[in-house]
Formats: sequence, C-alpha cells, structure tokens
Amino acid sequence: MEKLELKIAYTEFENEGELSAVDQNLIKKARDAGDLAYAPYSDFHVGAAVLLENGVIITGNNQENVAYPSALCAERVAIYYAGAQHPHVAVKAIAITCKSKSFHVKDPISPCGACRQAMSEYEMLHNSTIKVILMGETGKIRIVDSIADLLPFMFKAEELKKS
Ligand code: THU
Repeated sequence: MEKLELKIAYTEFENEGELSAVDQNLIKKARDAGDLAYAPYSDFHVGAAVLLENGVIITGNNQENVAYPSALCAERVAIYYAGAQHPHVAVKAIAITCKSKSFHVKDPISPCGACRQAMSEYEMLHNSTIKVILMGETGKIRIVDSIADLLPFMFKAEELKKS
C-alpha cells in the first residue's frame, strides 16, 4: 500500500491591473458575454471568452432552460462553438467570469466537472495546454496553466482502447 499525493499549481492576482493586456482583454470579453447570459432561474450570469491560436476570440454564456438539466454552462457554449467553427485551431486560453443581480460574487468562479472534461478534450486534441483565467464579479483572479491541473485523473481517450 502506498499513499500518494498530487499537487497542482496556480497563480493568484489581486486585481486585473496585474494581468497582461491580452488576459485583461479576454476577461473583458468574458464579462461582456456574461452580460448577455440567459440565466433567469439561477440569476448567476457566467461569461466565457476563448482565445484561439490564430487570435480569434469566441465568447459564450450560460443558457438556462425551464427544464433545468437542459441548460448549458458558458464554458461549454463557448468551447463547443470554437470547436464547431475552428476545428483545426488550438485553444490558447479561456477566461471565465460571473456575476449576479441578487448577490455579490467576490471569489473566482470554479468551472464544473463537466466543463473541465469538455475543455480537456481540446487540450488532448491539439496537444497543447489551455490557460484558464478565473474571476468573480470583482476581486482576485486565479490562473491555472492547464485544464489537466483542474481535472486530475481525467478520463482519456486511451482508456477506450482495448488492449
Ligand atoms: N454555470 C456556468 O455557466 N459555468 C460554471 O462554471 C458554473 C455554473 C452556470 C450553470 C447555471 O446556468 C448557473 O451557472 C448556476 O449553476
């Protein structure tokens, strides 16, 4: 028997001013997208902005539904649109922000497990890492250099292969 440990690395910034201009712009795009979210049931408005290797930025927001489980998170709306429109272009980064009219979101958002799995697919597909920039409505920004850090022991394609 052996007990093992797994560590992940991430960086925190006190405010947007500490970020590069590229990251600041991506956060702004995510925030603008979040303003257009359709979230009448949760009042939790999430925006995502995906930066592709060719410089194109694709944005998305959460789309809710009266049949609650039919909703889709902002991250998947954005990354699937990027995959649909630019199937051969690697994803460099994704910024994710959130806000609500009924409460103040001061901590960086933490993407759900399904979105982590969905985003990880594009790291594996293009064999390149995706930088994840997380922010609430205000406050600090958390940056993780790869989806793999957000999803240890992720399900991988080789597990489907019969030995
Ligand atoms: N949501 C996202 O869009 N992204 C996340 O990372 C977490 C949650 C959405 C789903 C739902 O519309 C609302 O936020 C509340 O869970």
